[in-house]
Amino acid sequence: MYTQLEQRGMVEPPVNVGTLSKMKQDGKPIACLTAYDASYAALVDAAGTDLVLVGDSLGMVIQGHDTTVPVTVDNIVYHCRAVAKGLRHAFLVADMPFMSYANPDQALDSAVRLMQEGGAMMIKLEGGEGQVEIVEHLARHDIPVCAHLGLKPQSVHKIGGFKVQGREPDKAREMVDSAIRLQNAGADIVLLECVPNEVGKAATEELDVPVIGIGAGPHVDGQILVLYDILDITQGRTPRFVRNFQQGNDSPLAALQAFVAAVRNREYPAPEHCFS
Ligand code: KIV
Repeated sequence: MYTQLEQRGMVEPPVNVGTLSKMKQDGKPIACLTAYDASYAALVDAAGTDLVLVGDSLGMVIQGHDTTVPVTVDNIVYHCRAVAKGLRHAFLVADMPFMSYANPDQALDSAVRLMQEGGAMMIKLEGGEGQVEIVEHLARHDIPVCAHLGLKPQSVHKIGGFKVQGREPDKAREMVDSAIRLQNAGADIVLLECVPNEVGKAATEELDVPVIGIGAGPHVDGQILVLYDILDITQGRTPRFVRNFQQGNDSPLAALQAFVAAVRNREYPAPEHCFS
């Protein structure tokens, strides 16, 4: 009973939206990873990760699909419940899968399921101008939101592959402006995927909310990577921004601790992980 109140007195209380916002203000890099089950979630948490995402990347790394498109709300709820059991400290975010937020009412229904059934503390959706009304609707109901811009993997068939976004100056400006509008609509975090360093830098400077990057360069407020990529479990070609943290470490926990340390001291990402 009243675990939330007891936890406030802990030496390292659980991370919440306020903690993440303060980390941005203090210039302390935020370390984030994906997880899909309780055992790995416990390791990711023990390593000191601040934010854990139950990403729809599970469609690729758990279910073996080529894209995230087949993932359903039921899938995310199932994995989120498992991950929630493994976490003590990290903030838990769950992905809204493809076509689960096509209009404000559907978005609210999906978000409520992820929070009530899955135990998520925030939902993430892939968005731009078209999602401003949805974010407003969720924020009006006090649902914490992370807005994912840049490369949006759910749009892979529309954009014709997993490609760097925002290389042209007008597209870069459009993306940062969309991020500002999503923040003003109520988004608490912005996530940028696969964009040139300069876009990550501009968004981080112009937004008040934390900006988390995956292939968005070294200037963002935090970094996120897919767990199986950094543990060298993913087979075949991995994206340029991935670093294998298992190499040189003798256990998965040591590899995860190395990731958190590399984010904190800004050793990761190095130039070879970035786009221009
Ligand atoms: O689904 C996912 O794992 C993600 C990350 C790549 C950020 O969205």
